[in-house]
Amino acid sequence: MNKKIVVIDGTRTGEENLTSILDILNAELKQSNAEVQVFSLRDMKLAHCIGCFGCWLETPGFCRFGEAGGREILQALIQSDMTILFTPVVFGGYSSQLKQIVDRFVSHVLPYFGLYDGEIHHRPRYLRFPRIVGIGVQHNPDIPEANLFKLIVGRNAINFHAPDYAAEVIGSTDDSEHLREVFRSLITRKDSFPWGKSVKSLMPPAEALMSRPETDGAPRACLIVGSPKTLSNSTSSVFGNYLLDRLKGYDWRTESLTLKASLCTEQGEADLLAAVDRADLLLFAFPLYIDALPFLMTKALELIANHRHKYDHVRLQRLFAITNNGFPESYQNNPALSICRNFATASGIIWIGGLAMGAGEALSGGEPLKPRNNQGLPCMHIIEALKATGDALAQGQTVPIEAIRGITRTPIPYTPFLIWRWLFTFNANKWWEKRAAGHGVNKQSMLAQPYAINTKNKMP
Ligand SMILES: Cc1cc2nc3c(=O)[nH]c(=O)nc-3n(C[C@H](O)[C@H](O)[C@H](O)COP(=O)(O)O)c2cc1C
Repeated sequence: MNKKIVVIDGTRTGEENLTSILDILNAELKQSNAEVQVFSLRDMKLAHCIGCFGCWLETPGFCRFGEAGGREILQALIQSDMTILFTPVVFGGYSSQLKQIVDRFVSHVLPYFGLYDGEIHHRPRYLRFPRIVGIGVQHNPDIPEANLFKLIVGRNAINFHAPDYAAEVIGSTDDSEHLREVFRSLITRKDSFPWGKSVKSLMPPAEALMSRPETDGAPRACLIVGSPKTLSNSTSSVFGNYLLDRLKGYDWRTESLTLKASLCTEQGEADLLAAVDRADLLLFAFPLYIDALPFLMTKALELIANHRHKYDHVRLQRLFAITNNGFPESYQNNPALSICRNFATASGIIWIGGLAMGAGEALSGGEPLKPRNNQGLPCMHIIEALKATGDALAQGQTVPIEAIRGITRTPIPYTPFLIWRWLFTFNANKWWEKRAAGHGVNKQSMLAQPYAINTKNKMP
């Protein structure tokens, strides 16, 4: 039987000049007698993931949005032997166009956590996931961004239990012979998986600050909450607003904006850019989605960078970001913070550092911050880290190192991380089952494989 290859084309409107590269890729794939299916995302009407976990707890394995939830692509992907992610490299990550569907890969894993090579990932929903190949295109060579891109493809391959993966970055003006060679090697090459060690060292340090921000009147801060949750409160908004309140205490003028689907409209875009333009300090608060920023946050970065290039902004702005993830290892957020730092550099904004917190769903879950959370887990270390950060930002300083370390601390005093991780995994797995049962979904149904070939668990 011929190999099935799915190509997911994440080039954005206006980047049709990359089509010729895709044509070379397709020709190369067809030469290997593969059955190739290409999804050009910019021609499809897709909704973005709203982080409701419905695809784990209510309709296991698929999204409540049906076709708009990318059903056709997700089914083709899981039934393929190889899936190729094709995208311009955007600040070291994927384009928003590609990220919109990549966020939805979450339905291909189970809510259950497992330990893989010393770090937590979700257990697979299907018996096999395709080989993953990432092809990034750069208009101008940038080696650190290219390396980050390749690392993120590898991290995605780990998260989805791909048997192997390969990733490469090419130049938009590379000659066709070179491209053919790269594509030929990518079809079979096996890159080594970037396990924890290569991610731990990625926390991007703040830039040195030369002077205090110059403002007329009280300085302004703008919080951008990048969690797409609409059915419940987000941890990102809790953390972001805590910091904003701290700044208010120092007489800062503050405003906050939660990214919504309207960001993809002219009005939504204009509202975002106007709020960003007013700010001396930008605060991004978002969850980790598939090893990077969620779709809406990725889109916001593209819009802001584009805007700043177009109007040649001279206003000196600073950027701080706080991200939280589901797994207990906070370092898994580091690639996302690196994307933020690259965005800042590309947009002429000063990166003043970031905070990364693990087990966000377990420690906060969108509840207001208290010394002990609703499950009785101590959260004082989070409060202290946010206080120290808020105070430092208010005084024009970078994120204090003790806050960066403090927020990653094991919540239970005198308990080594390994014990905390075991407790976390055991309780979280039970918690997901309880939540699914609340929707009338039992343990067996949680394991549904709606897109598997010959499955008995077909979608309704
Ligand atoms: C689509 C999706 C993808 C996710 N991907 C990751 C991931 O790659 N790694 C991780 O540790 N957590 C991941 N999470 C978990 C979220 O980061 C976690 O639930 C976070 O606490 C949500 O924060 P919020 O309430 O601010 O939205 C993902 C969640 C969703 C819904």
